[in-house]
Amino acid sequence: MFSNRTNWKLTRNRLTEALEEVRSSGARVLDLTISNPTRAGLSYDEPLILQSLASPQAMDYDPQPRGLSGARAMVAAYYETAHGIHLDLERLVLTTSTSEGYSFVFRLLCNPGDELLVPKPSYPLFEFLADLQDVKLVPYPLIYDHGWQMDFPSLRNAVTKRTRGVVVVHPNNPTGSFVHSQERELLSRFCREHELALIADEVFLDYAHGCGQRQSFAAQDDILTFTLSGVSKVSALPQMKLAWIVTSGPPAQVEAAQARLEVIADTYLSMNAPIQWATPVLLEQRRSIQEQLLNRVLANLKELDRLLAAQKICQRLIVEGGWYAVLRVPLTRTDEELAVDLLRQKSVLVHPGHFYDFPSDGYLVLSLITVEAEFAEGVHHILELVNL
Ligand SMILES: Cc1ncc(COP(=O)(O)O)c(C=O)c1O
Repeated sequence: MFSNRTNWKLTRNRLTEALEEVRSSGARVLDLTISNPTRAGLSYDEPLILQSLASPQAMDYDPQPRGLSGARAMVAAYYETAHGIHLDLERLVLTTSTSEGYSFVFRLLCNPGDELLVPKPSYPLFEFLADLQDVKLVPYPLIYDHGWQMDFPSLRNAVTKRTRGVVVVHPNNPTGSFVHSQERELLSRFCREHELALIADEVFLDYAHGCGQRQSFAAQDDILTFTLSGVSKVSALPQMKLAWIVTSGPPAQVEAAQARLEVIADTYLSMNAPIQWATPVLLEQRRSIQEQLLNRVLANLKELDRLLAAQKICQRLIVEGGWYAVLRVPLTRTDEELAVDLLRQKSVLVHPGHFYDFPSDGYLVLSLITVEAEFAEGVHHILELVNL
């Protein structure tokens, strides 16, 4: 009765089962997987945000496929101020989420069975997005050697006649690595050579841990490029469902892509009026929120390094941006077994590396947006167990 594309394995995994057991026993779980900023103890300007959703103009229905021009102008202003990029409003399409943005772009580029090259390790939602659009994902590895790097020989080997594009996550989740300037050049040459589009997921772009490295792909003009982002991370407001696709590249390709994207967006008209009228306020929130989150991320990293310095068994990998850190742990058991043991014995929840397709066991992923005291306590317990 159902389509093959929805034939997913829906059984719970061992970690979810263990979590339910530990929670039902009444134990307090230290959650080091937190990715929901609205439950991370941040201080939002609640009255202003809620007020912004009650604009009287939202009573008018103005079905603009790319999104209301006032809202698009605000997104363009964000690129101008935060990234020094001047965007033509015609090149912007608003979507309800970055995930929706991915679906639109996958639909635009791929026939059923066509392929997209995606980084590995990376974000697990890709698989589902691709299944739903009948797209085949072909992973290209990121290799760790004093920092993460794109593996261009593997990228070249992965390309086939059916490849339509390359996805980069800038910075990547969970490795926290940016696409470096030399990689950008190689990538752009690679895409030109194979006539591929580039899809750049920049949801974490504003969370660089140091200076440099945060150049947006929205200004890429030599290959057809779709840059995706949204307020879910930019302003830590995932519940507001406001995201966008910026199209850039050679003008003729951009024009053709925009015309088709407009029809895709027009088919759904998924943007709602209150959110679009609230865009100036929602985007403005980023100033206070990004400061709070970056302070927390950096404080947690500092504490992690302090605790790691007192032992020799675990190390963390170099991270340049984003909300996560990767811990390298001894290979005494699988990552999943270790995560389950941590939960049952120490009530600490972490993500095993295999959730993100790490090439082997020996990795745990920790959320750096966890409240500082919980993060420190959680890491302390992890090191206690791993150093036993
Ligand atoms: C790399 C990356 N891209 C996209 C998303 C989803 O963003 P949105 O909430 O806008 O769909 C996430 C969410 O965690 C993410 O980590």
